[in-house]
Amino acid sequence: MTSPIIIALDANYERSMNLAKSFDPKMCRLKVGSQLFTSIGPRVVEELCSLGYEVFLDLKFHDIPNTVFGAVKSSAELGVWMLNVHISGGSNMIKHAKRALDTYTNPPLIVGVTILTSLSDKDVDEIGITNLSKSVMNLSRLAKDNGLDGVVSSPREVADIKKHCGKDFITVTPGIRPTSIDDDQTRILTPKEALDNGSDYLVIGRPVTESPNPLKSLEQILKDIEI
Ligand code: C5P
Repeated sequence: MTSPIIIALDANYERSMNLAKSFDPKMCRLKVGSQLFTSIGPRVVEELCSLGYEVFLDLKFHDIPNTVFGAVKSSAELGVWMLNVHISGGSNMIKHAKRALDTYTNPPLIVGVTILTSLSDKDVDEIGITNLSKSVMNLSRLAKDNGLDGVVSSPREVADIKKHCGKDFITVTPGIRPTSIDDDQTRILTPKEALDNGSDYLVIGRPVTESPNPLKSLEQILKDIEI
């Protein structure tokens, strides 16, 4: 699998399965987030895996260490390829998340959410974070120091994250827009720009899933990034 694209299935079960069946596991991985997971449950992950997809379970765990330990273990049991936790849950929570995978020979990757890519400087100021980029770097460092495989961040922050945490530290970047689209994502780049910045995986939702022809939109993105 060489494609860096992860398609976010933020839709209902029927639509998500139809999208998955119209794509091919060679073109992309699939992301199951809280909307799809809470509406249909673990079954959707199992069905996507049986279609041959590697699944990123995006439930952004953020709870006391013991609860996150259990949630990570349950995710691993589902056979997911990647899962995530909020880094702001702290070092002890992150260590518990990692420890939950100790018994697996082929464990899922765990990445940490730095700061949601929908938040602007003004938004983070409202929740008491005064310096967005400094906070992203601090959180990335905390994730790295406590054993996470990488982070979820804006594609604009990737170069700095790689500088602070090393080039092998995985960066998963939502906030990708093939052309300028006016929606709730604010810290955005195009797929090509994101890869040029060093992003390892590009999470793309609505530009593909809400396009009149999702397969064609995905094929166009793969063409743009020369895959
Ligand atoms: O539709 P769009 O391309 O904006 O989808 C982005 C996806 O990435 C959504 O599923 C969203 O939940 C997720 N995400 C994000 N920002 C993060 C982490 C995940 O946008 N920091």
